[in-house]
Amino acid sequence: MAGHVFARGAGLPTVARARGVEVVDTDGRRYLDASGGALVVGVGHGVAEVVEAAAEQAARVAYVHGTVFTSEVLETYADELAAVLPVDDARTYPVSGGSEAVETALKMARAYHLARGQDRSVVVGRVHSYHGNSLGALDVSGRARLRAPYLPWLGRAVHTSTPQEHRCPFPGHPDGCGARHAELLEQTILRAGPDRVAAFVAEPVAGAGLAACVPPPDYWPAVVEVCRRHGVLVVADEVMTGFGRTGSWFGCEAEGVRPDLLTAGKVAGSGYWPLGLAVASGQVHDTIGTGLVHGFTSSHHAVGAATGLAVLRHLREHDLVTASRERGAQLLTLLRERLAEHPWVGDVRGRGLMVGVELVADRSTLEPFDPGLRLTERLVAGARELGLLVYPAAGCADGTRGDAVLLGPPLVITAAEVAEVVDRLGRALDRLLVTSGAAGRR
Ligand SMILES: Cc1ncc(COP(=O)(O)O)c(C=O)c1O
Repeated sequence: MAGHVFARGAGLPTVARARGVEVVDTDGRRYLDASGGALVVGVGHGVAEVVEAAAEQAARVAYVHGTVFTSEVLETYADELAAVLPVDDARTYPVSGGSEAVETALKMARAYHLARGQDRSVVVGRVHSYHGNSLGALDVSGRARLRAPYLPWLGRAVHTSTPQEHRCPFPGHPDGCGARHAELLEQTILRAGPDRVAAFVAEPVAGAGLAACVPPPDYWPAVVEVCRRHGVLVVADEVMTGFGRTGSWFGCEAEGVRPDLLTAGKVAGSGYWPLGLAVASGQVHDTIGTGLVHGFTSSHHAVGAATGLAVLRHLREHDLVTASRERGAQLLTLLRERLAEHPWVGDVRGRGLMVGVELVADRSTLEPFDPGLRLTERLVAGARELGLLVYPAAGCADGTRGDAVLLGPPLVITAAEVAEVVDRLGRALDRLLVTSGAAGRR
């Protein structure tokens, strides 16, 4: 279809409708949505009560400027959020997506230090991380491929290590790896100048960049201790992990972390509204006072709040956080069984309904494939032919090399649908081996 859309792909099918975990295109082809888009659709497609909540609010009042009015729905949403957020006395600043949430959190961190008379501006991110494509968020991100064209505009953030358990370089692994990462973080802070570092930004479970790498249990306590010692704010980027995705309300909970700032998005609006959230602790909020010079036209949106509130209540009332934990465990177990003998599957990992499958050229050394083979892209396309939607995570080994797909279906997925996902992905991987076997060899 030639048209005037600046499209994100060539020859894309046209979507017709979606319900639950299924998407249907205008040719009548049905797809099992095992990635909820980009791990977005938590409550499932086509939930009438979410649609109705948004429509009702839009009919009552769709838009007022955030500096002129608040709304009852926004106040209620923020109150109900505060009860589930792992942030002390949480204060929520709603925006229009994950990148905006990260930008907002970075400015909050800077504003916090300025309010305390400290000129701190350096942000520490992690290699292979993803925090968004706007320039501030991209600067904190570590994904080399996404950064490459924009390097002249980047370079203020610095980067430290990130755990990749199956590729852990530390000699004593699995013992004490958290302490080693914490040492590297501290060295990064000291190199940047400890009185200049404003914040450390990290995903509780690494998402798009590393395809669901779960940190070792001693990681988060160790890095948080370093941050606290140097007065560096801890920013948990929960855009992908938040709202039940990893089997708890937020990824931080499983790590026992109470961050100073938290960002969320994706499942927060579940695709019904482009919703992002930047959350500050009460202490950070009160310190900033009136000192945050910031704002977006569509922040604090009443329809966004109504949508987010309906999603939050749906997650709670249907206990979808527990469902994510249970279905996620099932998905991991079945995938590990099904792919145990596959010569190209190097690792299956994840937490809750956030699961990564990594392909390697050599299972014993975990040597990645040549990126020129574009195996991730071919696997995603092959899965789609079998009616399965999965999310690509190429570059997961070292930023450039490494093939993987992420699974992150709506949290309403049934046990039978989980089994079907595993069957279709297994068949797509078997086909990939047959059709790319020769090319796949290095
Ligand atoms: C952890 C994380 N942070 C930030 C973002 C950016 O969110 P958005 O694409 O909504 O701007 C993403 C998106 O994938 C993400 O996974």
